[in-house]
Amino acid sequence: MDLKEKIRVIEDFPKKGISFKDITTVLKDGEGFKYIIDKIVEKVKDKEIDLVVGPEARGFVLGAPVAYALGVGFVPIRKPGKLPADTLRYEYSLEYGNDALEIHKDAIIPGQRVLIVDDLLATGGTISAVAKLVEELGGVVASMGFVVELTGLKGREKLKGYDVFSLVQYE
Ligand code: PRP
Repeated sequence: MDLKEKIRVIEDFPKKGISFKDITTVLKDGEGFKYIIDKIVEKVKDKEIDLVVGPEARGFVLGAPVAYALGVGFVPIRKPGKLPADTLRYEYSLEYGNDALEIHKDAIIPGQRVLIVDDLLATGGTISAVAKLVEELGGVVASMGFVVELTGLKGREKLKGYDVFSLVQYE
């Protein structure tokens, strides 16, 4: 399947100069949705994954069906103030300002092998924060999977030492 045919590209969103890769056009297409989930599952089938972790919001849409297909649990990573129980927070810097992500402190059993899933790898800031949270709780980041990778932003360089894969790449 040519995934690029199904991904909608919107120029100058959310601001001028950004070429937004919109995967909602893949998600609403039954064949396209099944294809991306099956592909991610296939890529990690020999990695003995115990748990899938995904960041808000598109990481939920992809991470949950991947976890279901693998027969393992799913753990959400959320923006501050959304998770109800005791949380661990990681603050990180963005191009403009700061952001933070949280995970429930009891979400991971030390030693569990974790697959992190998100829709897009851009600068790698989000996924590095997710990896820090997983590791601080004793999880082992076994793999990181994305639908789209924006290679020009060099997110992969920030993720040296991790097993990283993406289904489609844009410069
Ligand atoms: C987008 C995307 C990734 C992240 C990638 O999420 O879904 O999570 O940015 O960028 P990075 O590699 O530069 O960190 P966004 O922050 O827009 O949040 P949302 O999914 O909740 O809209």
